[in-house]
Amino acid sequence: MIKTSFSIPRVSEQARQYVNAVLDFGFHNGSSPGISARLEREFAAKFGRKFGILHANGTGTMQSALMAAGVGVGDEVIVPAYTVFMTASVALYVNAVPIFADVDPETWTISVEDVRRKITPRTKAIIPVSICGLSPDLDPIMELAREHDLVVIEDNAQCFLGYYKGRVVGSIGQFASFSFQGSKHMTCGDGGILICDNEELATRARKAAVLGFSTLSGKPGDTVVPQELRCHPTFQRHTDLGYNYRLPEIAAAVALGEFERLEELVQMRQAAAACLAEALLDCDWIVPQKTPEGYVHSYFTYAVRMLRKDVDWAEFRRQFVKLGGDGFYGAYLPVYREPVFPKLSDQVKKYPKRYPHYAGILPDYREVSCPVWDSIQPYVMQLKTNSFDLEVAEQQAEILAKTISLFS
Ligand SMILES: Cc1ncc(COP(=O)(O)O)c(C=O)c1O
Repeated sequence: MIKTSFSIPRVSEQARQYVNAVLDFGFHNGSSPGISARLEREFAAKFGRKFGILHANGTGTMQSALMAAGVGVGDEVIVPAYTVFMTASVALYVNAVPIFADVDPETWTISVEDVRRKITPRTKAIIPVSICGLSPDLDPIMELAREHDLVVIEDNAQCFLGYYKGRVVGSIGQFASFSFQGSKHMTCGDGGILICDNEELATRARKAAVLGFSTLSGKPGDTVVPQELRCHPTFQRHTDLGYNYRLPEIAAAVALGEFERLEELVQMRQAAAACLAEALLDCDWIVPQKTPEGYVHSYFTYAVRMLRKDVDWAEFRRQFVKLGGDGFYGAYLPVYREPVFPKLSDQVKKYPKRYPHYAGILPDYREVSCPVWDSIQPYVMQLKTNSFDLEVAEQQAEILAKTISLFS
Protein backbone atom coordinates (compact mmCIF):
# COMPACT_ATOMS: atom_id res chain seq x y z
CA MET A 1 0.00 0.00 0.00
CA ILE A 2 1.11 3.55 -0.78
CA LYS A 3 1.88 5.95 2.05
CA THR A 4 3.29 9.09 0.50
CA SER A 5 2.63 12.37 2.25
CA PHE A 6 -0.50 14.24 1.24
CA SER A 7 -2.89 16.93 2.32
CA ILE A 8 -5.70 17.53 -0.11
CA PRO A 9 -8.80 19.74 -0.04
CA ARG A 10 -12.29 18.35 0.45
CA VAL A 11 -13.42 19.93 -2.82
CA SER A 12 -11.03 20.43 -5.71
CA GLU A 13 -10.30 23.78 -7.35
CA GLN A 14 -11.28 22.19 -10.67
CA ALA A 15 -14.75 21.34 -9.29
CA ARG A 16 -15.22 25.00 -8.31
CA GLN A 17 -14.24 26.09 -11.81
CA TYR A 18 -16.69 23.70 -13.47
CA VAL A 19 -19.45 24.92 -11.13
CA ASN A 20 -18.68 28.47 -12.21
CA ALA A 21 -18.82 27.42 -15.85
CA VAL A 22 -22.33 26.04 -15.27
CA LEU A 23 -23.42 29.20 -13.45
CA ASP A 24 -21.95 31.42 -16.19
CA PHE A 25 -23.82 29.42 -18.83
CA GLY A 26 -27.10 29.70 -16.90
CA PHE A 27 -29.94 27.17 -16.86
CA HIS A 28 -31.88 26.45 -20.03
CA ASN A 29 -34.43 23.89 -21.11
CA GLY A 30 -32.47 21.87 -23.60
CA SER A 31 -28.98 23.32 -23.78
CA SER A 32 -26.12 22.94 -21.35
CA PRO A 33 -22.37 23.61 -21.20
CA GLY A 34 -21.88 19.89 -21.87
CA ILE A 35 -20.40 18.95 -18.51
CA SER A 36 -22.73 15.96 -17.98
CA ALA A 37 -21.95 14.65 -21.45
CA ARG A 38 -18.23 14.98 -20.81
CA LEU A 39 -18.44 13.20 -17.45
CA GLU A 40 -20.52 10.35 -18.93
CA ARG A 41 -18.03 9.90 -21.78
CA GLU A 42 -14.88 10.13 -19.67
CA PHE A 43 -16.10 8.08 -16.71
CA ALA A 44 -17.26 5.23 -18.98
CA ALA A 45 -13.95 5.30 -20.87
CA LYS A 46 -11.90 5.12 -17.67
CA PHE A 47 -13.63 1.86 -16.81
CA GLY A 48 -13.30 0.54 -20.36
CA ARG A 49 -17.01 0.97 -21.08
CA LYS A 50 -18.94 2.43 -24.00
CA PHE A 51 -21.82 4.11 -22.15
CA GLY A 52 -22.23 6.10 -18.95
CA ILE A 53 -25.60 7.24 -17.67
CA LEU A 54 -25.57 9.78 -14.87
CA HIS A 55 -28.21 9.44 -12.17
CA ALA A 56 -29.34 11.42 -9.13
CA ASN A 57 -27.90 8.66 -6.92
CA GLY A 58 -26.36 5.21 -6.87
CA THR A 59 -29.69 3.56 -6.03
CA GLY A 60 -31.56 4.76 -9.13
CA THR A 61 -28.64 3.46 -11.20
CA MET A 62 -29.34 -0.11 -10.10
CA GLN A 63 -33.08 0.29 -10.49
CA SER A 64 -32.56 1.52 -14.07
CA ALA A 65 -30.25 -1.43 -14.77
CA LEU A 66 -32.88 -3.88 -13.54
CA MET A 67 -35.57 -2.16 -15.61
CA ALA A 68 -33.34 -2.12 -18.68
CA ALA A 69 -32.67 -5.82 -18.27
CA GLY A 70 -36.40 -6.49 -18.06
CA VAL A 71 -36.30 -7.70 -14.44
CA GLY A 72 -39.77 -7.32 -12.96
CA VAL A 73 -42.81 -8.91 -11.39
CA GLY A 74 -42.00 -12.10 -9.50
CA ASP A 75 -38.38 -12.34 -10.69
CA GLU A 76 -35.65 -13.01 -8.13
CA VAL A 77 -32.54 -10.89 -7.66
CA ILE A 78 -29.66 -12.30 -5.61
CA VAL A 79 -27.85 -9.82 -3.37
CA PRO A 80 -25.33 -10.30 -0.57
CA ALA A 81 -26.18 -10.25 3.14
CA TYR A 82 -23.43 -7.65 3.75
CA THR A 83 -24.49 -4.54 1.90
CA VAL A 84 -26.65 -1.47 2.37
CA PHE A 85 -30.45 -1.61 2.17
CA MET A 86 -30.47 -0.04 -1.32
CA THR A 87 -28.84 -3.02 -3.07
CA ALA A 88 -31.90 -5.02 -2.06
CA SER A 89 -34.58 -2.32 -2.16
CA VAL A 90 -34.04 -1.79 -5.89
CA ALA A 91 -35.34 -5.32 -6.48
CA LEU A 92 -38.52 -4.37 -4.59
CA TYR A 93 -38.81 -1.13 -6.58
CA VAL A 94 -39.22 -3.22 -9.75
CA ASN A 95 -41.60 -5.69 -8.03
CA ALA A 96 -38.96 -8.40 -7.93
CA VAL A 97 -37.90 -10.45 -4.90
CA PRO A 98 -34.54 -9.88 -3.19
CA ILE A 99 -32.90 -13.17 -2.25
CA PHE A 100 -29.96 -12.98 0.13
CA ALA A 101 -26.74 -14.91 -0.34
CA ASP A 102 -24.24 -15.35 2.47
CA VAL A 103 -20.69 -13.99 2.36
CA ASP A 104 -17.24 -15.49 2.23
CA PRO A 105 -15.95 -15.84 5.81
CA GLU A 106 -12.74 -13.92 5.09
CA THR A 107 -13.44 -11.34 2.37
CA TRP A 108 -17.07 -10.75 3.47
CA THR A 109 -18.07 -10.35 -0.17
CA ILE A 110 -20.83 -12.49 -1.71
CA SER A 111 -20.23 -16.24 -1.50
CA VAL A 112 -20.19 -17.86 -4.92
CA GLU A 113 -21.25 -21.19 -3.41
CA ASP A 114 -24.27 -19.63 -1.76
CA VAL A 115 -25.22 -17.77 -4.95
CA ARG A 116 -25.16 -21.14 -6.73
CA ARG A 117 -27.43 -22.62 -4.04
CA LYS A 118 -29.88 -19.71 -4.25
CA ILE A 119 -30.39 -19.75 -8.04
CA THR A 120 -33.92 -20.89 -9.03
CA PRO A 121 -35.84 -20.81 -12.31
CA ARG A 122 -37.12 -17.37 -11.21
CA THR A 123 -33.63 -15.83 -10.75
CA LYS A 124 -32.97 -13.06 -13.28
CA ALA A 125 -30.12 -11.01 -11.82
CA ILE A 126 -27.23 -10.97 -9.36
CA ILE A 127 -25.96 -7.79 -7.73
CA PRO A 128 -22.49 -8.52 -6.34
CA VAL A 129 -21.25 -5.70 -4.12
CA SER A 130 -17.68 -4.41 -3.73
CA ILE A 131 -18.24 -3.99 -0.04
CA CYS A 132 -15.90 -1.57 1.78
CA GLY A 133 -14.08 -1.15 -1.55
CA LEU A 134 -13.13 -4.80 -2.22
CA SER A 135 -14.22 -6.63 -5.35
CA PRO A 136 -16.19 -9.84 -4.99
CA ASP A 137 -14.89 -12.95 -6.76
CA LEU A 138 -16.43 -11.96 -10.08
CA ASP A 139 -15.14 -14.63 -12.53
CA PRO A 140 -17.19 -17.53 -11.09
CA ILE A 141 -20.18 -15.21 -10.67
CA MET A 142 -20.02 -14.28 -14.36
CA GLU A 143 -19.68 -17.98 -15.18
CA LEU A 144 -22.82 -18.82 -13.18
CA ALA A 145 -24.62 -15.91 -14.82
CA ARG A 146 -23.72 -17.21 -18.29
CA GLU A 147 -24.90 -20.71 -17.38
CA HIS A 148 -28.26 -19.46 -16.11
CA ASP A 149 -28.74 -16.46 -18.42
CA LEU A 150 -28.65 -13.89 -15.62
CA VAL A 151 -27.72 -10.23 -15.71
CA VAL A 152 -24.92 -9.09 -13.39
CA ILE A 153 -25.01 -5.55 -11.99
CA GLU A 154 -21.84 -4.67 -10.07
CA ASP A 155 -22.70 -2.46 -7.11
CA ASN A 156 -19.49 -0.44 -6.83
CA ALA A 157 -20.89 2.45 -4.80
CA GLN A 158 -18.00 1.86 -2.39
CA CYS A 159 -15.32 0.93 -4.91
CA PHE A 160 -13.51 3.28 -7.27
CA LEU A 161 -10.36 2.06 -9.04
CA GLY A 162 -10.33 -1.25 -7.21
CA TYR A 163 -8.88 -4.12 -9.26
CA TYR A 164 -9.88 -7.74 -9.69
CA LYS A 165 -7.26 -10.01 -11.22
CA GLY A 166 -5.81 -7.21 -13.31
CA ARG A 167 -9.14 -5.71 -14.38
CA VAL A 168 -10.59 -2.50 -13.04
CA VAL A 169 -13.69 -3.16 -10.94
CA GLY A 170 -16.63 -1.88 -12.97
CA SER A 171 -15.49 -3.42 -16.25
CA ILE A 172 -16.86 -6.94 -15.70
CA GLY A 173 -20.66 -7.25 -15.18
CA GLN A 174 -23.18 -6.30 -17.89
CA PHE A 175 -23.68 -3.16 -15.78
CA ALA A 176 -21.68 -1.44 -13.07
CA SER A 177 -23.13 1.13 -10.70
CA PHE A 178 -21.30 3.83 -8.73
CA SER A 179 -22.49 6.36 -6.15
CA PHE A 180 -21.29 9.94 -5.65
CA GLN A 181 -23.06 10.28 -2.26
CA GLY A 182 -21.28 12.37 0.36
CA SER A 183 -19.24 9.57 1.95
CA LYS A 184 -17.90 8.11 -1.29
CA HIS A 185 -14.42 8.26 -2.89
CA MET A 186 -15.60 10.94 -5.32
CA THR A 187 -18.66 12.93 -4.38
CA CYS A 188 -20.87 15.78 -5.51
CA GLY A 189 -23.13 15.50 -2.47
CA ASP A 190 -25.46 13.05 -4.15
CA GLY A 191 -25.25 11.41 -7.55
CA GLY A 192 -24.33 8.22 -9.35
CA ILE A 193 -23.49 6.68 -12.68
CA LEU A 194 -24.37 3.45 -14.44
CA ILE A 195 -21.93 2.13 -17.02
CA CYS A 196 -22.31 -0.64 -19.59
CA ASP A 197 -21.29 -1.68 -23.11
CA ASN A 198 -24.55 -2.70 -24.76
CA GLU A 199 -26.22 0.12 -26.67
CA GLU A 200 -29.73 -1.23 -26.34
CA LEU A 201 -29.37 -1.73 -22.58
CA ALA A 202 -27.89 1.77 -22.26
CA THR A 203 -30.83 3.27 -24.14
CA ARG A 204 -33.34 1.43 -21.97
CA ALA A 205 -31.49 2.46 -18.80
CA ARG A 206 -31.50 6.09 -19.94
CA LYS A 207 -35.24 5.96 -20.56
CA ALA A 208 -35.78 4.33 -17.16
CA ALA A 209 -33.83 7.18 -15.56
CA VAL A 210 -35.30 10.04 -17.61
CA LEU A 211 -39.08 9.65 -17.69
CA GLY A 212 -39.20 7.31 -20.67
CA PHE A 213 -38.81 10.10 -23.22
CA SER A 214 -39.03 8.49 -26.63
CA THR A 215 -35.95 9.88 -28.38
CA LEU A 216 -33.35 9.38 -25.64
CA SER A 217 -30.37 7.11 -25.98
CA GLY A 218 -27.26 6.04 -24.09
CA LYS A 219 -25.19 8.65 -25.93
CA PRO A 220 -23.31 11.08 -23.65
CA GLY A 221 -25.63 13.77 -22.29
CA ASP A 222 -28.66 12.61 -24.28
CA THR A 223 -31.26 13.57 -21.67
CA VAL A 224 -33.43 16.04 -23.59
CA VAL A 225 -35.85 15.63 -26.50
CA PRO A 226 -34.90 17.99 -29.38
CA GLN A 227 -36.96 21.18 -29.29
CA GLU A 228 -38.35 20.80 -32.81
CA LEU A 229 -40.04 17.58 -31.71
CA ARG A 230 -41.03 18.48 -28.18
CA CYS A 231 -42.65 21.79 -29.18
CA HIS A 232 -45.17 20.01 -31.38
CA PRO A 233 -48.69 19.52 -29.96
CA THR A 234 -49.05 16.00 -31.37
CA PHE A 235 -45.65 14.73 -30.23
CA GLN A 236 -45.85 11.50 -28.23
CA ARG A 237 -43.17 12.00 -25.62
CA HIS A 238 -43.44 9.01 -23.34
CA THR A 239 -43.11 5.60 -24.89
CA ASP A 240 -41.93 3.85 -21.71
CA LEU A 241 -42.43 4.23 -17.99
CA GLY A 242 -39.40 6.00 -16.58
CA TYR A 243 -38.51 7.70 -13.32
CA ASN A 244 -36.88 11.09 -12.90
CA TYR A 245 -33.35 10.33 -11.77
CA ARG A 246 -31.58 13.11 -13.71
CA LEU A 247 -28.43 14.51 -12.11
CA PRO A 248 -28.42 18.34 -12.12
CA GLU A 249 -25.67 19.85 -14.28
CA ILE A 250 -24.32 21.73 -11.27
CA ALA A 251 -23.77 18.45 -9.43
CA ALA A 252 -22.20 16.95 -12.56
CA ALA A 253 -19.77 19.90 -12.53
CA VAL A 254 -18.58 19.00 -9.04
CA ALA A 255 -18.43 15.32 -9.97
CA LEU A 256 -16.32 16.03 -13.08
CA GLY A 257 -13.83 18.04 -11.02
CA GLU A 258 -13.58 15.24 -8.46
CA PHE A 259 -13.37 12.57 -11.17
CA GLU A 260 -10.30 14.34 -12.57
CA ARG A 261 -8.46 13.71 -9.28
CA LEU A 262 -9.89 10.25 -8.66
CA GLU A 263 -6.46 8.56 -8.40
CA GLU A 264 -5.47 10.98 -5.66
CA LEU A 265 -8.73 10.43 -3.77
CA VAL A 266 -8.34 6.65 -3.92
CA GLN A 267 -4.67 6.77 -2.92
CA MET A 268 -5.61 8.93 0.06
CA ARG A 269 -7.93 6.17 1.30
CA GLN A 270 -5.38 3.45 0.58
CA ALA A 271 -2.73 5.38 2.52
CA ALA A 272 -5.06 5.84 5.50
CA ALA A 273 -5.80 2.09 5.39
CA ALA A 274 -2.06 1.36 5.36
CA CYS A 275 -1.64 3.42 8.55
CA LEU A 276 -4.48 1.55 10.26
CA ALA A 277 -3.06 -1.81 9.11
CA GLU A 278 0.25 -0.93 10.75
CA ALA A 279 -1.51 -0.18 14.03
CA LEU A 280 -2.92 -3.72 14.01
CA LEU A 281 0.34 -5.54 13.33
CA ASP A 282 0.83 -6.72 16.91
CA CYS A 283 -2.82 -7.39 17.65
CA ASP A 284 -4.03 -10.95 17.14
CA TRP A 285 -7.69 -10.33 18.07
CA ILE A 286 -8.59 -7.76 15.45
CA VAL A 287 -8.51 -9.09 11.87
CA PRO A 288 -9.03 -7.01 8.73
CA GLN A 289 -11.22 -7.93 5.78
CA LYS A 290 -9.01 -10.21 3.68
CA THR A 291 -7.74 -8.89 0.34
CA PRO A 292 -7.01 -11.97 -1.82
CA GLU A 293 -3.94 -12.20 -4.10
CA GLY A 294 -4.51 -10.31 -7.33
CA TYR A 295 -7.04 -7.87 -5.89
CA VAL A 296 -6.49 -4.14 -5.24
CA HIS A 297 -8.69 -2.88 -2.39
CA SER A 298 -9.88 0.72 -2.77
CA TYR A 299 -10.65 1.08 0.96
CA PHE A 300 -13.91 2.97 1.19
CA THR A 301 -13.47 1.88 4.79
CA TYR A 302 -10.86 -0.21 6.57
CA ALA A 303 -13.12 -2.93 7.93
CA VAL A 304 -11.92 -5.17 10.73
CA ARG A 305 -13.46 -7.84 12.91
CA MET A 306 -13.00 -8.30 16.65
CA LEU A 307 -12.37 -11.93 17.55
CA ARG A 308 -12.47 -11.51 21.33
CA LYS A 309 -15.96 -11.93 22.69
CA ASP A 310 -15.01 -10.38 26.05
CA VAL A 311 -14.41 -6.96 24.42
CA ASP A 312 -17.64 -5.05 24.02
CA TRP A 313 -17.97 -3.33 20.61
CA ALA A 314 -19.59 -0.20 22.05
CA GLU A 315 -17.05 0.06 24.87
CA PHE A 316 -14.17 -0.22 22.39
CA ARG A 317 -15.71 2.59 20.33
CA ARG A 318 -16.28 4.71 23.42
CA GLN A 319 -12.62 4.43 24.41
CA PHE A 320 -11.47 5.12 20.83
CA VAL A 321 -13.57 8.28 20.65
CA LYS A 322 -12.44 9.35 24.15
CA LEU A 323 -8.83 9.25 22.93
CA GLY A 324 -9.73 11.45 19.93
CA GLY A 325 -10.64 8.74 17.43
CA ASP A 326 -13.00 9.60 14.59
CA GLY A 327 -16.03 7.46 15.52
CA PHE A 328 -16.18 4.41 13.29
CA TYR A 329 -19.35 2.60 12.18
CA GLY A 330 -20.38 -0.95 12.81
CA ALA A 331 -21.44 -3.02 9.83
CA TYR A 332 -25.04 -2.47 8.76
CA LEU A 333 -27.51 -5.03 10.05
CA PRO A 334 -27.81 -8.02 7.71
CA VAL A 335 -30.23 -6.40 5.29
CA TYR A 336 -33.08 -8.91 5.79
CA ARG A 337 -33.10 -7.94 9.50
CA GLU A 338 -34.11 -4.37 8.67
CA PRO A 339 -37.71 -4.15 9.92
CA VAL A 340 -39.06 -3.20 6.50
CA PHE A 341 -38.52 -6.77 5.23
CA PRO A 342 -40.50 -8.79 7.82
CA LYS A 343 -43.11 -6.01 7.68
CA LEU A 344 -43.51 -6.55 3.95
CA SER A 345 -43.68 -10.35 4.43
CA ASP A 346 -46.50 -9.81 6.95
CA GLN A 347 -48.38 -7.44 4.63
CA VAL A 348 -48.20 -9.92 1.77
CA LYS A 349 -49.51 -12.72 3.98
CA LYS A 350 -52.31 -10.53 5.32
CA TYR A 351 -53.37 -8.97 2.02
CA PRO A 352 -52.40 -11.42 -0.75
CA LYS A 353 -54.81 -9.76 -3.20
CA ARG A 354 -53.03 -6.42 -2.80
CA TYR A 355 -49.69 -8.10 -3.53
CA PRO A 356 -50.58 -10.72 -6.16
CA HIS A 357 -47.02 -10.62 -7.53
CA TYR A 358 -45.57 -11.53 -4.12
CA ALA A 359 -48.27 -13.82 -2.73
CA GLY A 360 -46.79 -17.26 -2.22
CA ILE A 361 -43.31 -16.30 -3.43
CA LEU A 362 -41.96 -13.55 -1.16
CA PRO A 363 -39.95 -15.21 1.61
CA ASP A 364 -40.86 -14.66 5.23
CA TYR A 365 -37.78 -12.54 5.83
CA ARG A 366 -37.99 -13.31 9.54
CA GLU A 367 -36.86 -16.83 8.65
CA VAL A 368 -34.03 -15.77 6.34
CA SER A 369 -30.56 -16.22 7.74
CA CYS A 370 -27.05 -16.14 6.34
CA PRO A 371 -25.12 -17.85 9.14
CA VAL A 372 -21.63 -16.69 8.17
CA TRP A 373 -22.52 -13.02 8.01
CA ASP A 374 -24.92 -13.25 10.97
CA SER A 375 -22.01 -14.47 13.12
CA ILE A 376 -19.46 -11.86 11.93
CA GLN A 377 -21.59 -8.70 11.59
CA PRO A 378 -21.89 -7.78 15.30
CA TYR A 379 -18.10 -7.62 15.66
CA VAL A 380 -17.17 -5.52 12.62
CA MET A 381 -15.71 -2.02 12.86
CA GLN A 382 -15.64 0.06 9.68
CA LEU A 383 -12.74 2.41 10.36
CA LYS A 384 -12.67 5.69 8.46
CA THR A 385 -10.22 6.30 5.61
CA ASN A 386 -11.33 9.76 4.43
CA SER A 387 -8.60 11.65 6.27
CA PHE A 388 -7.60 14.04 3.45
CA ASP A 389 -4.28 14.45 5.27
CA LEU A 390 -1.60 11.86 6.02
CA GLU A 391 -0.89 13.38 9.45
CA VAL A 392 -4.53 12.95 10.42
CA ALA A 393 -4.48 9.36 9.18
CA GLU A 394 -1.33 8.61 11.19
CA GLN A 395 -2.85 10.19 14.28
CA GLN A 396 -5.99 8.07 13.94
CA ALA A 397 -3.85 4.95 13.60
CA GLU A 398 -1.94 5.86 16.79
CA ILE A 399 -5.25 6.31 18.61
CA LEU A 400 -6.35 2.90 17.38
CA ALA A 401 -3.13 1.33 18.70
CA LYS A 402 -3.61 3.05 22.07
CA THR A 403 -7.23 1.88 22.28
CA ILE A 404 -6.12 -1.69 21.56
CA SER A 405 -3.52 -1.49 24.34
CA LEU A 406 -6.27 -0.53 26.80
CA PHE A 407 -7.92 -3.90 26.17
CA SER A 408 -4.77 -6.03 25.96
C1 LIG B 1 -22.92 -0.51 -1.39
C2 LIG B 1 -23.84 0.64 -1.69
N1 LIG B 1 -24.77 0.48 -2.65
C3 LIG B 1 -25.61 1.46 -2.98
C4 LIG B 1 -25.55 2.69 -2.36
C5 LIG B 1 -26.56 3.72 -2.75
O1 LIG B 1 -26.00 4.87 -3.21
P1 LIG B 1 -26.79 6.26 -3.07
O2 LIG B 1 -26.74 6.66 -1.63
O3 LIG B 1 -26.03 7.17 -3.97
O4 LIG B 1 -28.18 6.01 -3.54
C6 LIG B 1 -24.58 2.91 -1.37
C7 LIG B 1 -24.37 4.20 -0.67
O5 LIG B 1 -25.03 4.94 -0.16
C8 LIG B 1 -23.71 1.85 -1.01
O6 LIG B 1 -22.78 2.02 -0.07
